[in-house]
Amino acid sequence: MATLITNIRQLVNVREKNELLRGQSLAVLPSIDHAWLLIEGNEIAGYGTMAELPSNRPIPEETIDATGQFVLPAWCDSHTHIVFAGSREGEFVDKIRGLSYAEIAARGGGILNSARKLRETSEDELFNQAWKRLEEVSKQGTGAIEIKSGYGLTVESELKMLRVIRKLKERSSLTIRASFLGAHTYPPEFKEDHQGYIDLIIREMLPVIRQENLADYIDVFCETGFFSPEETETICKAGMSFGLKPKIHANQLNLSGGTQTGVKLGAISVDHLETMDEDAIKTLAASNTIGTLLPSAAFFLRMPFQPARALIDAGCAIALASDFNPGSSPSGNMNLVVSMSCIQMKMLPEEAINAATLNGAWAMELGNELGSITTGKKANLIFTRPIPSLSYLPYAFGSPLIDKVMVRGEWIG
Ligand code: NIG
Ligand code: FE
Repeated sequence: MATLITNIRQLVNVREKNELLRGQSLAVLPSIDHAWLLIEGNEIAGYGTMAELPSNRPIPEETIDATGQFVLPAWCDSHTHIVFAGSREGEFVDKIRGLSYAEIAARGGGILNSARKLRETSEDELFNQAWKRLEEVSKQGTGAIEIKSGYGLTVESELKMLRVIRKLKERSSLTIRASFLGAHTYPPEFKEDHQGYIDLIIREMLPVIRQENLADYIDVFCETGFFSPEETETICKAGMSFGLKPKIHANQLNLSGGTQTGVKLGAISVDHLETMDEDAIKTLAASNTIGTLLPSAAFFLRMPFQPARALIDAGCAIALASDFNPGSSPSGNMNLVVSMSCIQMKMLPEEAINAATLNGAWAMELGNELGSITTGKKANLIFTRPIPSLSYLPYAFGSPLIDKVMVRGEWIG
C-alpha cells in the first residue's frame, strides 16, 4: 500500500544522516516547506518539494492533502514506567499538604506503595492498564517507547512486569524497548540486607531475564537513600554480563554520582539530571552517553528543572522523555514535555523537537530506524492541525494541536 501526502506546509526533521545530535547541532532542524511525502508499506519511501513532485509517478492507492499542516516524526519517548497498578493521587495530596517525595518514600509510600499494588494485580489486569496508557500516548504522538520494570521488587513480580512488557511488544504497533529496573528501591524485606537483594537480582532475576529474553537494558535508581554508585556499578556490570546495556536513573534528587557512574560504565543514557554540578556536566559532555531530561518529573515534584542550557552549551547530547509513572510524572504527554523544556528550561523549539525525536530514538538505540524523516525509516508521523509556525507547537502548551498520528504506516486511533 502506498500513500502520498501532498501540500504539507512544512515537513520537519528531514535528514539523510542519522547521527546523534550534541551541543549546537541540536538547534539545527532541517525541514522542507510545501512538501510531499510518500509512504510505502510501513516505511518512508520519498519526499521533496511540491514544485518537484514527479508528474510521471505511479498513482498511489491513497493521496492525502495536508494543506496548512506540519508533519513531524512521531515522538520517541525513551524513559517510562507505564506498567504499573492503579494510581497514587493520595500521595499527590500529601505532597500538597507539605510532605516531600523523600519523606513519602521513607514512610513506605512511593515506589513501595506501587509495588504492593502491583503484587496484588494479575498479569492480565496489568497488561490491560498499560495497554490503555499506550493507546493514550500514541494518540498524543508517541510512536516508540521504552518501558521499565521496577514496581515488582520480587523475582515473581519483576518477571511479571517484564512479561507484560513483552506482550505489549508483541501486540502493539509501537516500537517498544524494555529495561529491567529491579534495583528501583530496596523492598522492605531487604531494607537491612542490601547485599541480599543485590544477590537476588544477580542470581535469580537476571538469569531468567536472559533465558526468556525479557529486557534490552539494565536500569538502577542511583540515588541517596536508594542505590549507591558502588551498588549501581555492581548491578550494571552483572546486567552487562547478561547482555543488557545500562540506562540509569541519575542525579535526580542529589549529586549522587550517578552521572559519573553511568559514563564510566558506558551507559546508553543517564536520565533525570535535575541536580547537576560542573563535574557531572563536563563528564557527560566528554562521553557518548546521552543525558535524558525528564522535565515533567521536575514539574510534578516541584523541583528545579534540569539545566538544559548548561548541558547543551557544554556539548552534551540531550534527549527528552516523559518518565510516565504513578509517583513523579503521571503523564506521558510528550507535547507537554516539549513545551516545558522550552518554557522552563529555555530550550529552543528546534532543540526540543530534535531531543524528543532523533535523540530520543538514539536513547533507545533506534536512531537508524526512527526519529527523523529519512527514506527507509519507519513511517511514524505526527500531523498537526493547521498552525501558524512550528514554534506555535510548544508555545500553545496544552492545546490539542495534533490532527492525526501514523505508526508504521497505519493511522492510530
Ligand atoms: O523516574 N526516580 C525513580 N523512579 C521514578 C519514580 C518512581 C515512583 O515514584 O513511582 C522516576 O521518577
Ligand atoms: Fe524514571
